[in-house]
Amino acid sequence: MVATSRPGRRTNLALLVLLTGAFVTGWLAFAVGAAPGARAVAVLHGVLALGILVLAPWKSAIVRRGLRRRRPHTVAVMFTLLLALSIVAGVVHSTLGPLEVGGVSALAVHVASAVAAVLLAVAHVLRRPQRVRRGDLSRRTALRTLALGGTATLAYAALSSLTSVAGLPGARRRETGSYEMGSGDPSAMPVTQWFTDDVPVLDPAAYVLRIERTGRPERQVSHAELLTAATTTRAAVLDCTGGWWAEQTWRGVPLDVVLGPLAGGSIVVHSVTGYTRRFPPDDAAGLMLATHLGDAPLSAGHGGPVRLVAPGRRGFWWVKWVDRVSVDDRPSWAQSPFPLQ
Ligand code: HEM
Ligand code: HEM
Repeated sequence: MVATSRPGRRTNLALLVLLTGAFVTGWLAFAVGAAPGARAVAVLHGVLALGILVLAPWKSAIVRRGLRRRRPHTVAVMFTLLLALSIVAGVVHSTLGPLEVGGVSALAVHVASAVAAVLLAVAHVLRRPQRVRRGDLSRRTALRTLALGGTATLAYAALSSLTSVAGLPGARRRETGSYEMGSGDPSAMPVTQWFTDDVPVLDPAAYVLRIERTGRPERQVSHAELLTAATTTRAAVLDCTGGWWAEQTWRGVPLDVVLGPLAGGSIVVHSVTGYTRRFPPDDAAGLMLATHLGDAPLSAGHGGPVRLVAPGRRGFWWVKWVDRVSVDDRPSWAQSPFPLQ
């Protein structure tokens, strides 16, 4: 008997590619700071995600057949529900704006349900594996892939046009997908931090900034000394992965002034909470230790007494409550792409 390909196998494989692509580009969208890369990543993310919906009619035939079989369906059903929630929350964020329910934003729901869905997707694929066959790399597959890509792109373009024509908030989002909130008005700027951090309240009088080189203490700078040196003002856009952005004027001391000339290695900016980000030495002149936001000293929520201003980088690089800056020999890429603690 000749083994025949079970109908739907290629649909499932295409879904695997789309799902993986959507997950990877979602994280890339969080990683990139500014146009034009940000726009390209966000569009690709939307197109791949809408490609999943384009395949829904074909997948629903597979689902009906699968559900008729006598075996546990919990993983597949939970996965489907979480994926649907993630897609709905993603589209809500991109069209209707930065909506919140009970203090939780649509974007947070989107990302959390995407992560949970992808974990279940792994379990689903392990339970219902699909083999790749040599014949899959055919002209026919190439044409189908083109048709799928074209339809998903049209769906994305239609959704974007609808958002613009209907004057929905989504038409005003930045290339990263973030919405403007509180530019030039620090009191209206949201207070958010990486989900593992809480706001510590520090006494500026007791505050010291420690400078270290290759693990050795070099000097300590008091808050009063920093305030005297903080004469540089810079306008910079803080674009948070929580889905908002704001342009503010920050006052502080550029990091190259604090550190002096650097030869290689990297700069580690450390927070009192243990949160850390590593930067290439060439970035020192563009980075700034800020003591003021607008005309007022930095509030605890916004990272006071001292926070990093990192123009062109997403918010999670703008380390708050900085208590130590060190220079060591490790390269700047020797860190996790997203904070782990
Ligand atoms: C299975 C995985 C995922 C799917 C199916 C998915 C799906 C979607 C969809 C349908 C949209 C709306 C696109 C639009 O209308 O423009 C969207 C937007 C977005 N997603 Fe995802 N997503 C996934 C994972 C992620 C992850 C892991 C992240 C971040 C870590 C992420 C971040 C974003 C962001 C920032 C937007 C807004 C982009 C914009 O407004 O242009 N997504 N996603
Ligand atoms: C959009 C993503 C997907 C969703 C929402 C989804 C959902 C489902 C559901 C609800 C079922 C029926 C219940 C069951 O069999 O327990 C099912 C069946 C199945 N799925 Fe998926 N799935 C997705 C992607 C995938 C992927 C990526 C693969 C493998 C590469 C896959 C392979 C299968 C197979 C082989 C079946 C069984 C079909 C049968 O028994 O005839 N699915 N899927």
